[in-house]
Amino acid sequence: MAYENIRVETRGRVALVTLHRPAQLNALCNALIAELNAALDGFDRDEGIGCIVITGSDKAFAAGADIAEMRERTHPEFYMADPFGEWDRVGRRRKPIIAAVAGYALGGGCELAMMCDFILAADTAKFGQPEIKLGVIPGAGGTQRLTRAVGKAKAMELCLTGRMMDAAEAERAGLVARVVPAADLLDEAWKTAETIAAMSLPVVMVAKECVDRAFETTLDEGVRFERRVFYGLFATADQKEGMAAFLEKRKPRFEHR
Ligand code: HXC
Repeated sequence: MAYENIRVETRGRVALVTLHRPAQLNALCNALIAELNAALDGFDRDEGIGCIVITGSDKAFAAGADIAEMRERTHPEFYMADPFGEWDRVGRRRKPIIAAVAGYALGGGCELAMMCDFILAADTAKFGQPEIKLGVIPGAGGTQRLTRAVGKAKAMELCLTGRMMDAAEAERAGLVARVVPAADLLDEAWKTAETIAAMSLPVVMVAKECVDRAFETTLDEGVRFERRVFYGLFATADQKEGMAAFLEKRKPRFEHR
């Protein structure tokens, strides 16, 4: 499928989606989100894909939702079209998604990065929820996911002032998994995604589901959920292969089943 606002590439079991609206710093218009979801739908269906990376440009992962597209919206239009419902679908994927962020990740851009399973940041990355300066608030989960990631004090400060934080501050605060030199960002993202894609896909998927559960349930229920999933993995061929390979001192050959 030909896309206008994204570029798509696959290498082995990894898929890379590059947001591509350079003149607008990858501002996330509805067409871009639709294309992103179409690409993710395809990767979800493709048994040959085990991990997905979403990235932007050196200057901007994404500078937010498209302000020009939004500005004249009315309440009933917004409510009826519910465009952010479509954004939500990005955050509900079952395969792992890494956000590789360089430059600005602002507003909806920060929210999109936070919908991914983790963020690898270039040392040039800047994160923020500047919507308050436009007379609105984050609308695609920013007040919720940022607060869970960095705690109330910093989330509140960022949402109320619109201040940006740099990559080092974001790493200290727990928003990003790792910061790397900008020149190495894509290589690191490919490598990390390849490592994940080499694992058993169903096991990766349930590991993701279990970590996500931590935000949705009590500790007791979460631990019980994890334990049930753990026992269930003994129905997979890959558990047998992984443990046999360890004991036979060889690399496992996972068959993703
Ligand atoms: C539409 C945008 C845009 C955006 C940048 N552009 N961000 N267009 N929507 N979010 C456009 C500019 O209008 C400009 O177009 C071109 O991209 C380059 O931007 P400049 O501002 O000239 O670049 P620079 O001076 O380097 O400043 C970079 C920047 C600034 C700090 C990132 O662009 C900025 O503050 N952008 C807006 C950030 C923001 O408020 N994001 C939140 C959006 S609301 P022209 O045609 O002039 O060259 C939001 C709500 C989410 O995300 C709700 C849930 C989805």
